[in-house]
Amino acid sequence: MATKAKFQAIRGTRDLLPPETALWNRVEQTAHEVFATFGFGEIRLPIFESTDLFSRAVGGETDIVSKEMYTFSNPTSLAAMVRGGRTEGMLSDMLLSEAEMISLRPEATASVCRAYIEHNMQQLPQPVKLYCMGPMFRRERPQKGRYRQFYQIDAEVLGGTDAPAIDAEVIEMVMTFFDKLELQGVLLEINSIGDRNCRPKYVELLRAELSKVKDKLGPDSQRRIETNPLRVLDSKVKEEQSIIEKLPRMADHLCEDCATHYSAVKHQLEMRGVIYRENWRLVRGLDYYMRTTFEITAQGLGSQNAVCGGGRYDGLVELLGGPPTKGIGFAIGEDRLILSLQESGKAPAQQGRDVYIAWMGERAHATAIRAAKDLRKAGFSVELPPVEQKFGKALGQADKLGAKYALILGDNEVSEGLWTLKTLADGSQAKYTEPDLLAHLRKSL
Ligand code: HAM
Repeated sequence: MATKAKFQAIRGTRDLLPPETALWNRVEQTAHEVFATFGFGEIRLPIFESTDLFSRAVGGETDIVSKEMYTFSNPTSLAAMVRGGRTEGMLSDMLLSEAEMISLRPEATASVCRAYIEHNMQQLPQPVKLYCMGPMFRRERPQKGRYRQFYQIDAEVLGGTDAPAIDAEVIEMVMTFFDKLELQGVLLEINSIGDRNCRPKYVELLRAELSKVKDKLGPDSQRRIETNPLRVLDSKVKEEQSIIEKLPRMADHLCEDCATHYSAVKHQLEMRGVIYRENWRLVRGLDYYMRTTFEITAQGLGSQNAVCGGGRYDGLVELLGGPPTKGIGFAIGEDRLILSLQESGKAPAQQGRDVYIAWMGERAHATAIRAAKDLRKAGFSVELPPVEQKFGKALGQADKLGAKYALILGDNEVSEGLWTLKTLADGSQAKYTEPDLLAHLRKSL
C-alpha cells in the first residue's frame, strides 16, 4: 500500500499564521503611512531577475551571490525554441548555450536600480524616493531570525545630490518608523567606508597589517586577508578581537571629501535628534556601498539581532548601465522586527471577535443574518454560527473565540424587538432595540 506523503514547509521557510499575521499587517501599514509622510512611493518588483543583475550589483565574490542564491535556467527560452520549430533532439544542446540564468532575489536594491534605469526615472524630479516590501531568498543556515525565505521592507533614494541631509533623513525615517512601532532597545550604528578614491588604499594598508598577524587569525579571517580584508573587521571570533582592535581604522584614512561628508552626516543626524553610535568595524556584506553605512539592532533577537542595514551606493546605477546616479537606502528584516516586537510584548493579543451571535430558532436565524450584515457593515467583527446551538454551548464558543459580546437572539427577543447583549468579561446583560444596540456598540467598542 502506498504511504501517504506528509508534506512540510521546506527548511528555512515557514507559514505565517493568524493572529501573528495581524501584527505583520500592522507593521506594513505603519510603513506605508510613515514612508508616505517622507514622500516615498511604493514600487512592486518581480521576485526573480537575471542572475547577472545580482552578481554585478551585490558582487560575485560576496557570500550572498557566490553561495546563497537560488538560481535556475529560465524555461521560457525552451518555449520560445519550441515555438520557433526546433525539434526536441536539438533542444538539449541549445538549452545549454541559450538559456538565460535567473535567480530568486536575495535583496531589492539591485532591482530598484534596474527599474530606475528601465523606466527612465532620471527624467522625473530628483531624487526619486521608492520603497517596497516582500519576500527575499538566501540559502543561509536557518536559525532563529534567519530564514531562507524572509521578508524585507526596503527604501531607496535615487538621483539628485549626495547631500548629507539625504543620508540623515533616510536614517531619520527608519528610526521614526521603529519609534512608532515602539520597538525596544533600538541601537543605530553608523560608519563611513570611504569611496573609490580612499578605500582601496585603506584596504591595502589593512591587508598589509593583517598579513603581519596572519598566524594568530582563524581560517576564515586568514582567507579573507586575500579575498576581502574588510570582512575581517566583522569577525566575532573571540581570540581575534584584541588583534582587530589594534588595526588601522578607516576613519583615519578617509579622503578629504569623504571625511567632510561623514562629519556632515553626523551633524545632520544631531540636528534631527537621531541618537547614533559610531562603529568603525561596521562593514556590510554587499559590494555596492561607499561612504555612509549603517545598521540597527533591537532587543530580544540573540545573535541575529540586525533589524536593518543600509548605506550609500553612488555609482551602482551606472554599474548597471544607467547614468551616473547617487543612491542611498536601507532594508529592514521584517521577520526580525516582528520577533523583537513579540519578545517585548508589543504584539496584539489574539484577534477576538467583537460580537458572537447566539441564535436559536428559524425566525431568529433570519434576524441573526440581518443583524450580522448590519454589524459588519458598521465595521464590527462578527461570528455567526452556521447551525443552531443551545445557548450554553454558543456562549462557551463565544468565550473561546475571545468575543467581547454575545448577542442573544431567541424567539422571545425577535417577537419583542428587544435584543439581549451579554458582556462576556463580566457576564452582565442588557436589552436594546436594534438601533440602540448599534449606537451602544459604536460607543463601547
Ligand atoms: P542586508 O544587510 O543584507 O542588506 O539585509 C538587510 C536586513 O535583512 C538585515 O539587517 C536583516 O534584518 C534582514 N535579513 C537578511 N538576511 C536575512 C535572513 N536570512 N533571514 C532573516 N532576515 C534577514 C540588504 O539587503 C541591502 N539591500 C539593504 C540596502 C538597501 N542597502 C541599500 N539599500
